[in-house]
Amino acid sequence: MSKITVVGAGNVGATCANVLAHADVFNEVVLIDIQGNMAKGKALDTWQQAPIDSYSTRLVGGDDYALTAGSDIVVITAGIPRKPGMSRDDLIATNAKIVVSVTKSILEHSRNPIFIVVSNPLDVMTYACWKASGLSDKRVMGMAGILDTARYRAFLAEELNVSPKDIQAILMGGHGDTMVPLPRYTTVSGIPVTELIKKEKLDAIIERTKFGGGELVNLMGTSAWYAPGAAAAQMALSIIKDEKRIFPCCVRLNGQYKLNDIFLGAPVKLGKKGILQVVKLKLRKGEMELLHKSAEAVKEVAEALDAMKVV
Ligand code: NAI
Ligand code: 2OP
Repeated sequence: MSKITVVGAGNVGATCANVLAHADVFNEVVLIDIQGNMAKGKALDTWQQAPIDSYSTRLVGGDDYALTAGSDIVVITAGIPRKPGMSRDDLIATNAKIVVSVTKSILEHSRNPIFIVVSNPLDVMTYACWKASGLSDKRVMGMAGILDTARYRAFLAEELNVSPKDIQAILMGGHGDTMVPLPRYTTVSGIPVTELIKKEKLDAIIERTKFGGGELVNLMGTSAWYAPGAAAAQMALSIIKDEKRIFPCCVRLNGQYKLNDIFLGAPVKLGKKGILQVVKLKLRKGEMELLHKSAEAVKEVAEALDAMKVV
C-alpha cells in the first residue's frame, strides 16, 4: 500500500495529483486544501477520469488531515502568490507560516514521510519545512531543478529541431535568476550540446531559462502549473519506485561544493529513503563562483526568514 498527499489543490497541486493518478503507481492520492470542497471536487473529478484513462489509483480530497494518515510522501504546493503592494518579506512570512503549519499537521498523522516542497520562494520554503519537521535532511527536498532543466531542454529541442526526450541536462543553485545552468553537462543523445549549437544561441537559451518562470507569469498572469506539477510527480515516482534516478533538486548541502547548512539545487539520487546521495560534480572555478553567488542570494532570504522567527 502506498499513499501520497498533495497539499494545495490549486493549479500546481491539482496537476501533480492528476499526473500521479495517470502513473498508476500509488494506491492512493490525497488532495488537501483549506478550500476543502475544492480539493474534494478536484479529487473526485480526477477519480472520474480513471475509467477513461484507465488507472486504479484512488483519489480523495478535503481539508481534514485525518485523510492523510500514513502518507509515504507529501508534496506541499500550498501558498499564495505575491500580490501587488506585498514585499518579498511579506510573501516569505505568509508562505512560511503556511508551510510550517502544513508540515506540522501532516506529522500529526504520518510518522516519517518524505516531503517534497514546491511553494515559493522554493529554497527557503524547503528549509522552513525541514526545520519545522525535525526530520532527517534526507527526507525533505524541494522541486525546482527538474522544472528549470525541463524549460532549458524544451528551448534546446526547439532550437535544434530534435525531440526533447533526447536532451539531458543538469543545473544547480537556487530557483531564481541566480540558477547555474551547466552547458558542459548538457547532451543530445550523448553528444555534447556545445558541438551542436553556436555559443551565442546557447547563451541566449540559458538567459531565457533563468527567467522562464517570469515569461509564463507575463503570458498567463499567474505562474506555471503543468510542468511544475509533473516535475514534482516525477520526484515522488522515483522515490516510491526506488528508481534511484538522478535529478537536480533542492537539497541541504553539508560540506558538498564547499557549502554548509543551506538548501540549494544540486544533483541528487532519489530512492525509497529519499535523498540517497548528493552527486558531486567536478565544477570549474567559474561554475563554482556562480554557485556560491547563488548560495549567497538564497542565504540572504533564509536569514530573513530566521529573523522572522516563524519556524
Ligand atoms: P494556487 O494559488 O493555484 O494554489 C495554491 C493553493 O494553496 C490554493 O488552492 C490555496 O487555497 C491553498 N492553500 C493556501 N493556504 C493553505 C493552507 N494553509 N493549507 C492548505 N492549502 C492552502 O497556486 P499554484 O499556482 O498552485 O502555486 C502554488 C505554489 O507553488 C506557489 O507558492 C508558487 O509560487 C509555487 N510554484 C513553485 C514552482 C517551483 O518550481 N518550485 C513552480 C510553480 C509554482
Ligand atoms: C516558476 O518557475 C513561479 O517558481 C515558479 O514557474
